[in-house]
Amino acid sequence: MRIRTMRGKLGGVGLLALSLAGAASWAQAEDDPALAAKGKQFFMLCQSCHAIDDSSGMRIGPHLKGVYGRPVAALDDFSYSAALREQDFAWDGEKLDAWLKRPYDLVPGSSMSFAGVASEDMRKALIAYLKTL
Ligand code: HEC
Repeated sequence: MRIRTMRGKLGGVGLLALSLAGAASWAQAEDDPALAAKGKQFFMLCQSCHAIDDSSGMRIGPHLKGVYGRPVAALDDFSYSAALREQDFAWDGEKLDAWLKRPYDLVPGSSMSFAGVASEDMRKALIAYLKTL
């Protein structure tokens, strides 16, 4: 009986934490170091194609140092697809989210052969990590 009461209380705390997290704005979430640390782990999905610094050369994809806020297809020494070069925006949270969800939906004809990340939580963590690069 006592244990049940305890569990009930803990469950309540868990729910409260969840709803607080849900209420946090995009911008706050993007700057959360714990979220960025998670995103760093998910980056294993990307690292075969993307370096995170500008000194180790290009891989199959462009390096992602400073990509948050960077204009799309902005690196001189990477040969982007024509489709990506034709775009006219800078990478912010919203664009990155759409890109990581389904690259071909955002930019049909892009050469990033990557199906996308279905989980919104994973995408948010990845974006928080990209913002630290
Ligand atoms: C199979 C290789 C591959 C994988 C895996 C991959 N990418 Fe890419 N990525 C590319 C290529 C190639 C491009 C250039 C696309 C173009 O020119 O159309 C690109 C472009 C990008 C860009 C745009 C960069 C710019 O300078 O405008 C971002 C951002 C990006 N990728 C993020 C990611 C993230 C984050 C992941 C992991 C979740 C990922 N990519 C997984 C190959 C890959």
